[in-house]
Amino acid sequence: MRRLGILLSGRGSNFLAIHRAIADGRIQDAEIAVVISNKPEAGGLEAARSLGLTALAIPQEGKGQAARQAHDARVITALSDFNVDLVCLAGYMRIISPAFVAAFSNRILNIHPSLLPAFPGLDAQHQALEYGVKVAGCTVHFVDEAVDHGVIVLQKTVPVLDDDTADTLSARVLEQEHIAYPEAISYVLSGRFHIVGRRYLPL
Ligand code: GAR
Repeated sequence: MRRLGILLSGRGSNFLAIHRAIADGRIQDAEIAVVISNKPEAGGLEAARSLGLTALAIPQEGKGQAARQAHDARVITALSDFNVDLVCLAGYMRIISPAFVAAFSNRILNIHPSLLPAFPGLDAQHQALEYGVKVAGCTVHFVDEAVDHGVIVLQKTVPVLDDDTADTLSARVLEQEHIAYPEAISYVLSGRFHIVGRRYLPL
């Protein structure tokens, strides 16, 4: 049984999609070992508790680089304490440190609501509308030291409609996120892939 650690900062709909996929067998031989949030008030933590999962709030204490590193160290310790095999960032609105990436080398996934490398960072759907793209989507990728940058596991697309707002586009992208993340996790856990340069390829 592989153990997933979920990190989130908000409502946790991607976490819930992963949970459903485990329950109905789309992700096999895996369990959610722990859900961690930097925001004690995150809806996703409450949802995790009501599902009977272990949910931890680990807020950053203080400001500055030292506080940031201390926070990451506490999160790494918690993930290690729960013997996590794969870390899934699910709306975790923090940049994680190189030490964190090194501690879980090639074992951290993230989902981002754009077709990377377009529109990294915040408000991706707003950026997509401002730019005027006709196709939007989401990306599941491995996490490396750079923001929204690691090797891409899979992407899903949605059309941008003429009357879209950031909210309507986000909702359409989110539906695809809920399909994409479980698919990507299942794929990665299967181990049936290799990485050539930046390309994630089936074996
Ligand atoms: C999702 O749209 C996710 O792609 C995005 O935050 C949202 C979290 O929603 N993540 C990022 O923007 C990361 N750069 P959720 O809490 O309902 O899963």
